[in-house]
Amino acid sequence: EVPAMKDRYEDSFPIGAAVEPYQLEGTHGEILKRHYNSIVAENVMKPVNIQPEEGEFNFEEADKIVAFAEEHDMDLRFHTLIWHSQVPNWFFLDKEGNEMIDETDPAKRADNKELLLNRLETHIKTIVERYADEVDAWDVVNETIDPNASNDRGLRESKWYQITGTDYIKTAFETTRKYAGEDAKLFINDFNTEVEPKRTHLYNLVKDLLEQGVPIDGVGHQAHIQLDWPTIEETKESINMFAGLGLENQITELDVSLYGWPPTPAFANYEEIVESGRLYDQAERYDQLFELYRELDDKITNVTFWGIADDHTWLDDRAEDYNDGVGKDAPFVFDPDFNVKPAYWEMMGYD
Ligand code: XIL
Repeated sequence: EVPAMKDRYEDSFPIGAAVEPYQLEGTHGEILKRHYNSIVAENVMKPVNIQPEEGEFNFEEADKIVAFAEEHDMDLRFHTLIWHSQVPNWFFLDKEGNEMIDETDPAKRADNKELLLNRLETHIKTIVERYADEVDAWDVVNETIDPNASNDRGLRESKWYQITGTDYIKTAFETTRKYAGEDAKLFINDFNTEVEPKRTHLYNLVKDLLEQGVPIDGVGHQAHIQLDWPTIEETKESINMFAGLGLENQITELDVSLYGWPPTPAFANYEEIVESGRLYDQAERYDQLFELYRELDDKITNVTFWGIADDHTWLDDRAEDYNDGVGKDAPFVFDPDFNVKPAYWEMMGYD
Protein backbone atom coordinates (compact mmCIF):
# COMPACT_ATOMS: atom_id res chain seq x y z
CA GLU A 1 0.00 0.00 0.00
CA VAL A 2 1.37 3.40 -0.95
CA PRO A 3 1.80 6.18 1.64
CA ALA A 4 -1.24 8.37 2.29
CA MET A 5 -1.20 11.84 0.75
CA LYS A 6 -2.67 13.38 3.89
CA ASP A 7 0.18 11.99 6.00
CA ARG A 8 2.80 13.29 3.61
CA TYR A 9 1.29 16.78 3.84
CA GLU A 10 0.31 16.70 7.49
CA ASP A 11 2.69 19.52 8.40
CA SER A 12 1.72 21.67 5.41
CA PHE A 13 -2.00 21.62 4.62
CA PRO A 14 -5.01 19.29 4.41
CA ILE A 15 -5.45 17.41 1.14
CA GLY A 16 -9.01 17.53 -0.17
CA ALA A 17 -11.24 16.05 -2.85
CA ALA A 18 -14.49 17.15 -4.48
CA VAL A 19 -17.09 14.39 -4.41
CA GLU A 20 -20.55 13.40 -5.50
CA PRO A 21 -22.49 11.58 -2.75
CA TYR A 22 -22.23 8.20 -4.53
CA GLN A 23 -18.44 8.41 -4.14
CA LEU A 24 -18.66 8.21 -0.37
CA GLU A 25 -19.03 4.46 -0.76
CA GLY A 26 -17.10 1.67 -2.47
CA THR A 27 -13.55 2.13 -3.70
CA HIS A 28 -13.92 5.91 -3.91
CA GLY A 29 -14.90 5.97 -0.26
CA GLU A 30 -11.90 3.83 0.72
CA ILE A 31 -9.48 6.10 -1.15
CA LEU A 32 -11.11 9.15 0.37
CA LYS A 33 -10.67 7.85 3.88
CA ARG A 34 -7.11 6.75 3.32
CA HIS A 35 -5.63 9.67 1.39
CA TYR A 36 -7.70 12.77 2.10
CA ASN A 37 -8.50 14.82 5.19
CA SER A 38 -10.70 17.45 3.57
CA ILE A 39 -13.81 17.20 1.44
CA VAL A 40 -16.08 19.40 -0.68
CA ALA A 41 -19.24 18.75 -2.70
CA GLU A 42 -18.70 18.75 -6.46
CA ASN A 43 -22.32 19.83 -7.06
CA VAL A 44 -24.82 19.14 -4.31
CA MET A 45 -24.26 22.31 -2.29
CA LYS A 46 -24.76 24.68 -5.21
CA PRO A 47 -27.77 27.05 -5.18
CA VAL A 48 -29.76 25.11 -7.78
CA ASN A 49 -29.35 21.90 -5.78
CA ILE A 50 -30.04 23.36 -2.34
CA GLN A 51 -32.91 25.74 -3.14
CA PRO A 52 -34.35 24.79 -6.54
CA GLU A 53 -37.60 26.66 -5.85
CA GLU A 54 -38.00 29.60 -3.54
CA GLY A 55 -38.42 28.34 0.02
CA GLU A 56 -37.93 24.68 -0.94
CA PHE A 57 -34.65 23.62 0.55
CA ASN A 58 -33.18 20.26 -0.31
CA PHE A 59 -30.45 19.20 2.10
CA GLU A 60 -30.56 15.44 1.70
CA GLU A 61 -27.51 14.98 -0.55
CA ALA A 62 -25.52 17.73 1.11
CA ASP A 63 -26.15 16.18 4.52
CA LYS A 64 -24.50 12.93 3.39
CA ILE A 65 -21.25 14.72 2.66
CA VAL A 66 -21.39 16.65 5.92
CA ALA A 67 -21.98 13.41 7.86
CA PHE A 68 -19.07 11.68 6.10
CA ALA A 69 -16.73 14.55 6.96
CA GLU A 70 -17.81 14.38 10.60
CA GLU A 71 -17.56 10.62 10.84
CA HIS A 72 -14.06 10.53 9.35
CA ASP A 73 -12.75 13.66 10.97
CA MET A 74 -12.18 15.53 7.72
CA ASP A 75 -12.21 19.26 7.10
CA LEU A 76 -15.22 20.45 5.16
CA ARG A 77 -15.29 23.17 2.51
CA PHE A 78 -18.68 24.52 1.45
CA HIS A 79 -18.99 25.19 -2.31
CA THR A 80 -20.71 27.51 -3.05
CA LEU A 81 -23.15 29.95 -1.45
CA ILE A 82 -23.44 32.32 -4.43
CA TRP A 83 -22.55 31.83 -8.12
CA HIS A 84 -23.86 33.00 -11.51
CA SER A 85 -23.97 29.41 -12.76
CA GLN A 86 -26.01 26.50 -11.37
CA VAL A 87 -28.35 29.06 -9.78
CA PRO A 88 -32.12 28.80 -10.29
CA ASN A 89 -33.64 31.68 -12.21
CA TRP A 90 -36.40 32.37 -9.68
CA PHE A 91 -33.85 34.47 -7.76
CA PHE A 92 -33.90 37.01 -10.60
CA LEU A 93 -37.65 37.32 -11.28
CA ASP A 94 -39.68 40.14 -9.77
CA LYS A 95 -43.01 39.57 -7.97
CA GLU A 96 -44.85 39.59 -11.32
CA GLY A 97 -42.51 36.98 -12.78
CA ASN A 98 -40.61 39.39 -15.03
CA GLU A 99 -36.82 39.37 -15.43
CA MET A 100 -35.41 41.94 -13.01
CA ILE A 101 -32.63 42.79 -15.47
CA ASP A 102 -35.21 44.09 -17.99
CA GLU A 103 -36.73 46.62 -15.59
CA THR A 104 -36.08 50.24 -16.60
CA ASP A 105 -38.08 52.19 -14.00
CA PRO A 106 -35.57 53.37 -11.33
CA ALA A 107 -38.01 52.94 -8.43
CA LYS A 108 -38.85 49.39 -9.45
CA ARG A 109 -35.19 48.62 -10.01
CA ALA A 110 -34.51 49.69 -6.43
CA ASP A 111 -37.32 47.41 -5.18
CA ASN A 112 -35.94 44.53 -7.23
CA LYS A 113 -32.49 45.01 -5.81
CA GLU A 114 -33.89 44.88 -2.30
CA LEU A 115 -35.88 41.74 -3.11
CA LEU A 116 -32.87 39.98 -4.60
CA LEU A 117 -30.62 40.86 -1.66
CA ASN A 118 -33.33 39.60 0.71
CA ARG A 119 -33.45 36.31 -1.17
CA LEU A 120 -29.67 36.08 -1.03
CA GLU A 121 -29.75 36.64 2.73
CA THR A 122 -32.42 34.00 3.27
CA HIS A 123 -30.50 31.49 1.15
CA ILE A 124 -27.26 32.05 3.04
CA LYS A 125 -28.86 32.26 6.50
CA THR A 126 -30.73 28.99 6.04
CA ILE A 127 -27.64 27.09 4.88
CA VAL A 128 -25.18 28.62 7.29
CA GLU A 129 -27.42 28.07 10.32
CA ARG A 130 -27.63 24.41 9.39
CA TYR A 131 -23.92 23.77 8.77
CA ALA A 132 -22.04 26.42 10.75
CA ASP A 133 -20.63 23.90 13.24
CA GLU A 134 -19.31 21.55 10.54
CA VAL A 135 -17.96 23.79 7.79
CA ASP A 136 -14.37 25.02 8.03
CA ALA A 137 -14.21 27.16 4.91
CA TRP A 138 -17.03 28.73 2.90
CA ASP A 139 -16.86 29.66 -0.76
CA VAL A 140 -19.10 32.67 -0.25
CA VAL A 141 -19.03 33.89 -3.84
CA ASN A 142 -17.63 32.12 -6.89
CA GLU A 143 -16.25 33.58 -10.13
CA THR A 144 -17.00 37.29 -9.66
CA ILE A 145 -14.27 38.40 -12.09
CA ASP A 146 -14.49 38.33 -15.88
CA PRO A 147 -11.67 40.03 -17.79
CA ASN A 148 -13.94 40.23 -20.86
CA ALA A 149 -16.54 42.32 -19.04
CA SER A 150 -17.30 45.73 -20.48
CA ASN A 151 -16.54 47.53 -17.19
CA ASP A 152 -12.92 48.41 -16.49
CA ARG A 153 -12.84 46.69 -13.09
CA GLY A 154 -13.31 43.30 -14.70
CA LEU A 155 -16.45 42.62 -12.66
CA ARG A 156 -18.49 39.76 -14.08
CA GLU A 157 -21.75 41.15 -15.44
CA SER A 158 -23.92 38.37 -14.08
CA LYS A 159 -27.54 38.94 -13.13
CA TRP A 160 -26.33 39.43 -9.55
CA TYR A 161 -24.12 42.26 -10.75
CA GLN A 162 -26.61 43.82 -13.14
CA ILE A 163 -29.23 44.04 -10.39
CA THR A 164 -27.12 44.89 -7.33
CA GLY A 165 -23.70 46.07 -8.52
CA THR A 166 -21.11 44.70 -6.11
CA ASP A 167 -23.55 44.85 -3.19
CA TYR A 168 -24.36 41.16 -3.63
CA ILE A 169 -20.75 40.33 -2.79
CA LYS A 170 -20.74 42.56 0.25
CA THR A 171 -24.08 41.29 1.53
CA ALA A 172 -23.05 37.68 0.94
CA PHE A 173 -19.92 38.01 3.07
CA GLU A 174 -21.63 40.01 5.79
CA THR A 175 -24.51 37.56 6.03
CA THR A 176 -22.19 34.56 6.13
CA ARG A 177 -20.12 36.15 8.88
CA LYS A 178 -23.26 37.02 10.84
CA TYR A 179 -24.49 33.43 10.97
CA ALA A 180 -21.24 31.47 10.75
CA GLY A 181 -19.41 33.38 13.45
CA GLU A 182 -15.95 34.86 13.82
CA ASP A 183 -14.06 31.57 13.49
CA ALA A 184 -15.51 30.69 10.10
CA LYS A 185 -13.18 31.17 7.14
CA LEU A 186 -14.82 33.06 4.32
CA PHE A 187 -13.43 32.75 0.78
CA ILE A 188 -13.81 34.46 -2.57
CA ASN A 189 -13.19 31.75 -5.17
CA ASP A 190 -12.22 32.04 -8.83
CA PHE A 191 -10.38 30.42 -11.74
CA ASN A 192 -7.35 31.72 -13.66
CA THR A 193 -6.35 33.67 -10.54
CA GLU A 194 -2.70 33.24 -11.59
CA VAL A 195 -2.82 35.27 -14.77
CA GLU A 196 -3.09 38.91 -15.73
CA PRO A 197 -5.30 40.83 -16.02
CA LYS A 198 -7.59 38.61 -13.99
CA ARG A 199 -5.50 38.37 -10.86
CA THR A 200 -5.13 42.16 -10.65
CA HIS A 201 -8.89 42.64 -11.11
CA LEU A 202 -9.47 40.17 -8.28
CA TYR A 203 -6.78 41.78 -6.15
CA ASN A 204 -8.30 45.24 -6.60
CA LEU A 205 -11.80 44.01 -5.81
CA VAL A 206 -10.70 42.20 -2.66
CA LYS A 207 -8.57 45.13 -1.50
CA ASP A 208 -11.47 47.50 -2.02
CA LEU A 209 -13.87 45.23 -0.12
CA LEU A 210 -11.42 44.78 2.75
CA GLU A 211 -11.05 48.55 2.99
CA GLN A 212 -14.82 48.77 3.31
CA GLY A 213 -14.66 46.30 6.19
CA VAL A 214 -16.14 43.36 4.30
CA PRO A 215 -15.21 40.15 6.15
CA ILE A 216 -13.07 38.16 3.70
CA ASP A 217 -10.51 35.69 5.05
CA GLY A 218 -9.08 34.19 1.95
CA VAL A 219 -8.85 33.64 -1.77
CA GLY A 220 -9.73 30.30 -3.33
CA HIS A 221 -7.65 29.51 -6.40
CA GLN A 222 -9.54 26.93 -8.45
CA ALA A 223 -6.38 25.85 -10.31
CA HIS A 224 -7.99 24.18 -13.31
CA ILE A 225 -4.65 24.12 -15.02
CA GLN A 226 -2.86 22.64 -18.01
CA LEU A 227 0.50 20.96 -18.56
CA ASP A 228 2.30 24.22 -19.22
CA TRP A 229 -0.15 26.95 -18.34
CA PRO A 230 -0.11 29.01 -16.20
CA THR A 231 3.57 29.17 -15.22
CA ILE A 232 4.80 28.24 -11.75
CA GLU A 233 6.15 31.78 -11.45
CA GLU A 234 2.69 33.29 -12.10
CA THR A 235 1.18 30.93 -9.56
CA LYS A 236 3.74 31.95 -6.97
CA GLU A 237 3.24 35.66 -7.62
CA SER A 238 -0.51 35.32 -7.26
CA ILE A 239 -0.34 33.53 -3.92
CA ASN A 240 2.14 36.08 -2.62
CA MET A 241 -0.04 38.98 -3.80
CA PHE A 242 -3.05 37.82 -1.81
CA ALA A 243 -0.94 36.81 1.18
CA GLY A 244 0.31 40.41 1.10
CA LEU A 245 -3.25 41.54 1.84
CA GLY A 246 -3.17 39.38 4.97
CA LEU A 247 -5.35 36.70 3.36
CA GLU A 248 -5.19 32.92 3.38
CA ASN A 249 -4.87 31.08 0.08
CA GLN A 250 -6.53 27.76 -0.66
CA ILE A 251 -6.14 25.66 -3.80
CA THR A 252 -9.78 24.68 -4.22
CA GLU A 253 -10.34 22.76 -7.48
CA LEU A 254 -7.02 21.39 -8.64
CA ASP A 255 -6.86 19.35 -11.81
CA VAL A 256 -4.10 19.15 -14.42
CA SER A 257 -5.63 18.65 -17.86
CA LEU A 258 -3.59 16.90 -20.53
CA TYR A 259 -4.86 19.40 -23.09
CA GLY A 260 -4.67 23.05 -24.00
CA TRP A 261 -7.75 25.18 -24.54
CA PRO A 262 -9.95 24.18 -26.24
CA PRO A 263 -9.20 20.53 -25.37
CA THR A 264 -8.72 19.35 -28.91
CA PRO A 265 -7.57 17.04 -30.31
CA ALA A 266 -8.23 14.73 -27.37
CA PHE A 267 -7.35 11.10 -26.79
CA ALA A 268 -10.34 8.77 -27.13
CA ASN A 269 -9.67 6.62 -24.07
CA TYR A 270 -7.25 5.99 -21.23
CA GLU A 271 -5.19 3.45 -23.18
CA GLU A 272 -4.35 6.06 -25.77
CA ILE A 273 -3.41 8.45 -22.99
CA VAL A 274 -0.97 5.95 -21.46
CA GLU A 275 0.59 5.19 -24.85
CA SER A 276 1.11 8.87 -25.56
CA GLY A 277 3.59 9.25 -22.69
CA ARG A 278 1.85 12.43 -21.62
CA LEU A 279 1.37 11.15 -18.08
CA TYR A 280 5.09 11.76 -17.55
CA ASP A 281 4.74 15.39 -18.59
CA GLN A 282 1.89 15.61 -16.13
CA ALA A 283 4.03 14.05 -13.40
CA GLU A 284 6.68 16.71 -14.00
CA ARG A 285 3.99 19.36 -13.65
CA TYR A 286 2.77 17.88 -10.36
CA ASP A 287 6.36 17.82 -9.13
CA GLN A 288 6.85 21.55 -9.76
CA LEU A 289 3.43 22.46 -8.44
CA PHE A 290 3.70 20.66 -5.13
CA GLU A 291 7.25 21.85 -4.68
CA LEU A 292 5.82 25.36 -4.90
CA TYR A 293 2.94 24.55 -2.55
CA ARG A 294 5.42 23.20 0.01
CA GLU A 295 7.58 26.29 -0.34
CA LEU A 296 4.52 28.50 0.28
CA ASP A 297 2.85 26.30 2.87
CA ASP A 298 2.69 29.12 5.43
CA LYS A 299 0.40 30.94 2.96
CA ILE A 300 -1.66 27.98 1.74
CA THR A 301 -4.20 26.45 4.12
CA ASN A 302 -5.79 23.74 1.96
CA VAL A 303 -5.11 21.92 -1.34
CA THR A 304 -8.22 20.29 -2.81
CA PHE A 305 -8.44 18.25 -6.02
CA TRP A 306 -11.62 18.59 -8.10
CA GLY A 307 -12.22 14.86 -7.95
CA ILE A 308 -10.58 11.67 -6.73
CA ALA A 309 -9.47 9.49 -9.64
CA ASP A 310 -9.47 9.67 -13.44
CA ASP A 311 -12.67 7.61 -13.72
CA HIS A 312 -14.72 10.69 -12.82
CA THR A 313 -13.78 14.20 -13.91
CA TRP A 314 -15.81 17.11 -15.25
CA LEU A 315 -12.99 17.57 -17.81
CA ASP A 316 -14.27 14.49 -19.65
CA ASP A 317 -17.48 16.38 -20.44
CA ARG A 318 -15.42 19.19 -21.90
CA ALA A 319 -13.19 16.83 -23.89
CA GLU A 320 -16.33 15.18 -25.26
CA ASP A 321 -18.05 18.48 -26.05
CA TYR A 322 -15.14 19.68 -28.17
CA ASN A 323 -14.36 16.38 -29.89
CA ASP A 324 -17.67 15.13 -31.25
CA GLY A 325 -18.50 13.14 -28.13
CA VAL A 326 -15.23 11.16 -28.01
CA GLY A 327 -12.62 12.43 -25.58
CA LYS A 328 -11.03 11.49 -22.28
CA ASP A 329 -8.96 13.52 -19.84
CA ALA A 330 -6.92 12.26 -16.88
CA PRO A 331 -6.15 15.11 -14.48
CA PHE A 332 -5.56 13.38 -11.14
CA VAL A 333 -2.90 11.28 -9.40
CA PHE A 334 -5.03 8.10 -9.38
CA ASP A 335 -5.91 6.35 -12.66
CA PRO A 336 -9.44 5.14 -13.59
CA ASP A 337 -8.77 1.87 -11.72
CA PHE A 338 -7.58 3.76 -8.64
CA ASN A 339 -3.91 2.87 -9.10
CA VAL A 340 -1.33 5.57 -8.48
CA LYS A 341 0.02 7.35 -11.56
CA PRO A 342 3.50 8.83 -12.16
CA ALA A 343 1.96 12.10 -10.93
CA TYR A 344 1.35 10.56 -7.50
CA TRP A 345 5.04 9.86 -6.85
CA GLU A 346 6.00 13.35 -7.96
CA MET A 347 3.38 15.17 -5.91
CA MET A 348 4.59 13.19 -2.91
CA GLY A 349 8.04 14.61 -3.57
CA TYR A 350 9.74 11.27 -4.24
CA ASP A 351 12.08 11.27 -7.24
C1 XIL B 1 -18.48 21.66 -12.20
C2 XIL B 1 -18.77 20.21 -11.84
O1 XIL B 1 -17.55 19.52 -11.69
C3 XIL B 1 -19.62 19.58 -12.90
O2 XIL B 1 -20.05 18.28 -12.51
C4 XIL B 1 -20.86 20.43 -13.20
O3 XIL B 1 -21.56 19.89 -14.27
C5 XIL B 1 -20.46 21.86 -13.49
O4 XIL B 1 -19.67 22.37 -12.45
N1 XIL B 1 -15.70 25.86 -11.37
C6 XIL B 1 -16.42 25.60 -10.23
C7 XIL B 1 -17.06 24.28 -10.05
O5 XIL B 1 -16.43 26.44 -9.33
O6 XIL B 1 -18.26 24.38 -9.32
C8 XIL B 1 -17.32 23.59 -11.37
O7 XIL B 1 -17.81 22.28 -11.12
C9 XIL B 1 -16.06 23.56 -12.20
C10 XIL B 1 -15.59 24.96 -12.49
